[in-house]
Amino acid sequence: MDKPFVFITRKIPNELIEPLKAVANVEMWDKEDEAVPHELLCEKAKHAHALLTMLSDRIDSELLTQAPHLKLVANLAVGFDNIDVEAATERGIIVSNTPDVLSDTTADLTFGLLMSVARRLVEAAGYVKENQWKSWSPFLLAGRDVHHKTLGIVGMGKIGETLGKRATGFDMEILYHNRSRNLQAEKKLNAVYCELNELLERSDFVVCLTPLTDETKHLFNASAFEQMKTTAIFINASRGAVVDEQALLHAVQSGEIAGAGLDVFDQEPISASHPLLQLPNVVALPHIGSASIETRTEMISLCVKNIKAVLTNESPITIVNK
Ligand code: DGY
Repeated sequence: MDKPFVFITRKIPNELIEPLKAVANVEMWDKEDEAVPHELLCEKAKHAHALLTMLSDRIDSELLTQAPHLKLVANLAVGFDNIDVEAATERGIIVSNTPDVLSDTTADLTFGLLMSVARRLVEAAGYVKENQWKSWSPFLLAGRDVHHKTLGIVGMGKIGETLGKRATGFDMEILYHNRSRNLQAEKKLNAVYCELNELLERSDFVVCLTPLTDETKHLFNASAFEQMKTTAIFINASRGAVVDEQALLHAVQSGEIAGAGLDVFDQEPISASHPLLQLPNVVALPHIGSASIETRTEMISLCVKNIKAVLTNESPITIVNK
């Protein structure tokens, strides 16, 4: 009997997918920094028993309807808003993600982004490299303190908790807003649950870590930014569409808030000419929350384990379907 077929939508190191080869015929899109065209992905899905996908691949109901053999979509991310999970579930297709293994790395990046905006690290590094540094002066590139300030976390899941842990080392007060209370965060971090309005009004740093769903789309809109302090810094490390980018642009440009750190955007990649990227108090990164070599390696291994499990009729480790 022919081995099942697995299609991987991005070039990843061969040695990491070695364990799959014993149970499947594996094919990989051959580009590292370019997404597989959607049409080609649909073509491959027609024959695939499992797909290893990236957050930049759209796995919609049309693709899933034309994939009669598909048993699993293993997404290389904790977020899975790129996949129509409902349509997959209706067809008995399992969707898996990569939670937990990326929490520390993503929290590190998120806290780093917060620090970079607060202490103007990117501007300061450019200042030195561009030979603008003439003399030490008292308020040269003076930023805002992070320690002893109030951190408002919107979306208190694993990454939120892990971020909170870092904040306790900076003696920060932690407020959070979440669909439901996170008693562990309250106990371990002294985090205080707040309604969103109160969190926005009280926080010096508002960090968005909530998944993108119908309910959270454009959660950060004009009215949310209006409620923030004029000294507040907004950080987004979840998904771009949770934020109304025009409203954010207006808020930063008009001084309604003090700055923003963004790892994610509505359109990825964001164009370098986008007005948000022209602002000195906006630090923008190319969606690298979980991008450490160690963590990306673990995320791929987890996807490989999930695929292997499903193809050998065992239970995958991290299922998303309800
Ligand atoms: C995820 O895993 O969803 C993150 O956005 C990756 O950085």
